[in-house]
Amino acid sequence: MRRVKTAVLISGNGSNLQAILDAAKAPDYPAEIALVISNVETAYGLTRAQNAGVTTVTIPHGNYASRESFDRMVDASLKSHGIELVVMAGFMRILSDWFVNEWQGKLINIHPSLLPKYKGLHTHARAIEAGDAEHGATVHWVTPELDSGEIIAQASTPIAADDTPETLKQKIHALEHTLYPEAVKKVARHMQ
Ligand code: GRF
Repeated sequence: MRRVKTAVLISGNGSNLQAILDAAKAPDYPAEIALVISNVETAYGLTRAQNAGVTTVTIPHGNYASRESFDRMVDASLKSHGIELVVMAGFMRILSDWFVNEWQGKLINIHPSLLPKYKGLHTHARAIEAGDAEHGATVHWVTPELDSGEIIAQASTPIAADDTPETLKQKIHALEHTLYPEAVKKVARHMQ
């Protein structure tokens, strides 16, 4: 079975990366996690990748004069590893229009809200403040407009009366760990 060569972009803990690495151990999983790129040298996700035997590359954004020169470095690294699908998992950089156009149709992200609600930051606090009955996570195609690309998959959970932004964040994270590996599977299947 051909597996789609996939890269994961991270900036931090990488618990979603871990969920995808674990899922990708299944012999019929359609994506091979071939590369992990971080813009933060101390990101724990790099250790997770190394433990799984995956090649890692660190590209510290502070070393680049412009957003696009950083993005060109990421692009060059992806291309030199023959990457076909790029998965953003807690990657805390906004990518330039140039990069997004270059990878359009091959670039996905997970966002902690039920898009189109709550694009941007502080989604958990915003959902609680609005008195919403539920909150969730969305996997979507990345387009130049932030958190606005076509939706691939969503999962939701009720908001409890005593939820705080922190408890809700933990619940959403747990949802993401099932949602994201399934969404990557679905996308990779179509690319096989
Ligand atoms: C996730 O909540 C994701 O929705 C957001 O960043 C967080 C990453 O967490 N984009 P982790 O690094 O995968 O643990």
